[in-house]
Amino acid sequence: MSHTEKYIPNPQRYTDGVGYNYCGKSGLQLPKISLGLWHNFGDVDDADEALKMIKHAFDNGITHFDLANNYGTPFGSAEKNFGRILKDHFSSYRDEMVISTKAGHEMWAGPYGDGGSRKYLMASLEQSLKRMKLDYVDIFYSHRYDPNTPLEETMGALSDMVKQGKALYVGISKYPEDKAREAYRILKENGTPCLIYQGKYSIFSRDIEREVLPLASEHGIGFIGFSPLAQGMLSDKYLHGIPENSRAAHSYGFLQSSQITPELVARISKLNDIAAQRGQTLAQMALAWCLHQKQVNSVIVGTSSVKQLQDNIDALKTPDFTDDELWRIGELG
Ligand SMILES: NC(=O)c1ccc[n+]([C@@H]2O[C@H](COP(=O)([O-])OP(=O)(O)OC[C@H]3O[C@@H](n4cnc5c(N)ncnc54)[C@H](OP(=O)(O)O)[C@@H]3O)[C@@H](O)[C@H]2O)c1
Repeated sequence: MSHTEKYIPNPQRYTDGVGYNYCGKSGLQLPKISLGLWHNFGDVDDADEALKMIKHAFDNGITHFDLANNYGTPFGSAEKNFGRILKDHFSSYRDEMVISTKAGHEMWAGPYGDGGSRKYLMASLEQSLKRMKLDYVDIFYSHRYDPNTPLEETMGALSDMVKQGKALYVGISKYPEDKAREAYRILKENGTPCLIYQGKYSIFSRDIEREVLPLASEHGIGFIGFSPLAQGMLSDKYLHGIPENSRAAHSYGFLQSSQITPELVARISKLNDIAAQRGQTLAQMALAWCLHQKQVNSVIVGTSSVKQLQDNIDALKTPDFTDDELWRIGELG
């Protein structure tokens, strides 16, 4: 099908697709696999492949798209490009999509374009809505904890976004455990409970298991994991050097080639062997591993091609882990 023709989504997407989990104790269901637009959807990326990935995701029941004000090179370009895709191809499907955005990292110059102030968050949400051509987002996150802004101010801004109808739900990302606890309390007192915590989670990044996950569970808050493939390191791509066009090869990406050390490659290679014994790719095993942790409601993958996205969707077809496999994977994490 040409991408200028009217897009008709796969009618089987909700029966044969990725399936859904409730987000914590809320009534909102999230697809087990969500698509993140941090890399691969900016102005420097392949626009045709970006459109194909969004369609392929939706055709497979992936209803949740994760953005932030600063995603894409240059900043804001992922939201702008996603907005165009929505307008051109998804205008009839807005109510079938969960779209999130965030503010908290540096976005524009001066004291009001970074951090957790009400001034920054409110202005940033307005800009995000304009770029995506939306009336509201489904989830707005405080992208990181700001020690220089009182939590009451940051959480007050989130609560007001919900009361103004510009965000349906709110969440926090990367907050330390003690600050997350306070944020949950304030949001609840404001009458706009926290929906979700977004944190880094993969075979290589397990910190959240200690405090963040138990706290979320205690408060009925959902958890969504980002960088489940450790930005692509948990795949077979770096086993034999750094391929051209990979994230580690790009000058503008967040993965540096210096992170791909021989020691790391040796661990990836052993993980790759375990995946092969299970009859799957390492990327598939890495995603299945995140999702076997019952508190993980969804994982946000970033993909640079439809082929990768399909490989990741197929992770859901794979067998449960044996105790021995979990132990061996744990030793290599
Ligand atoms: N809250 C936060 O602070 C925060 C931080 C980071 C990310 N996030 C969210 O999480 C999303 C995902 O993060 P991420 O992009 O780091 O996730 P990731 O899934 O760990 O890494 C994505 C990269 O892995 C490679 N990849 C994906 N599927 C593959 C496959 N099947 N086989 C081989 N390689 C594969 C691709 O690399 P190549 O490009 O090299 O092909 C892709 O760009 C972001 O888009 C964003 O929405 C949030």
